[in-house]
Amino acid sequence: MTDNLLEVSGLSAGYLGEDVIYDIDIVVSSGEAVTVIGSNGAGKTTLLRTICGLVPITGGKVRFNGNDITGIGAHRVARAGIGFVPAERHLFNTMSVEENLALGAYPHRPDPATLASVYELFPRLEERRGQHAGTMSGGEQQMLAVGRALMSRPRLLILDEPTTGLAPVLAVEAYNALGRLREEGLTVLVAEQHVPLALSLADRGYVLDHGRITISGSATELGDNAEVRRAYLGIT
Ligand SMILES: Nc1ncnc2c1ncn2[C@@H]1O[C@H](COP(=O)(O)OP(=O)(O)OP(=O)(O)O)[C@@H](O)[C@H]1O
Ligand SMILES: [Mg+2]
Repeated sequence: MTDNLLEVSGLSAGYLGEDVIYDIDIVVSSGEAVTVIGSNGAGKTTLLRTICGLVPITGGKVRFNGNDITGIGAHRVARAGIGFVPAERHLFNTMSVEENLALGAYPHRPDPATLASVYELFPRLEERRGQHAGTMSGGEQQMLAVGRALMSRPRLLILDEPTTGLAPVLAVEAYNALGRLREEGLTVLVAEQHVPLALSLADRGYVLDHGRITISGSATELGDNAEVRRAYLGIT
C-alpha cells in the first residue's frame, strides 16, 4: 500500500505512431503540489493529456487512487477524480460564466456549495456570473477554466501552463489561487515554463527534456540545481 494518489510508470505516448514522451515515471502523493518543467516541445502537454486519457498510451501504466486507469478513456479518468485545465482553456465563449461553471459538474447537477466555494476563491467570477465567457479578460478566463475544473470536485487538479498569455502580475495571482487550493488540501500537478513561479508553489518537481524525465527533486533541490539554473532560470 502506498499513499501515492497518482503513479505514472514507464509511460510512453505520442502521435501518428511516433512516441514523443518515453518511459516516464512520476508520483504525486495526496496533498502535494508537483510541477513538470520543460521548454517548448519538451512533451509537457503530451504527458498531462496522456495521463488524462486524451492521448493514446503506447507503453506503461497510470494508477490513480489505487486503481489502474491506463487506457480507460478521458471521461472515466475525469469521473475517477482528475480535473484537467488545458492551456487553451476550451471555454464556451457564448455561454455565461455561470453556465460554463455548471458544465464543469456535468453529468451531475452543479452543487451549490461547490459553486459557492469557487466564487469564494474567485470573487471576480461571481461579479461577472452573467457575462459571456468569451468577453472575459485573459486572467478572468483562466480563473473560469480553473473554477470549471473544480466544479467536479476533483481529488487531483492537473493544469497545463496556467500562466499562458497572462501578464506577470496576473500569473502571480493565478499561482496565489493555486496555493490557496493547495492549502485546502487539493493535490495539484502543473506543467509550467515559468520555472520560478512553478517552484514557488511546488513541493517537488520533474524536468522534462526531449520527452524524458532528466532531473527530479524537491523544489529547493531543483532551484539549486546547476542545470536547472542554467537552462530554465537563465542564471550562469
Ligand atoms: N497533435 C499532435 N500531433 C503531432 N505531433 C504533436 C501533436 N501535439 C504535439 N506534438 C509534438 O509532440 C512534441 C511535444 O509537444 P508538447 O505539446 O507535448 O510539448 P510542450 O512541452 O507542451 O511544449 P509547449 O511548452 O510549447 O507547450 C512536439 O514535438 C510536438 O510537435
Ligand atoms: Mg504545452
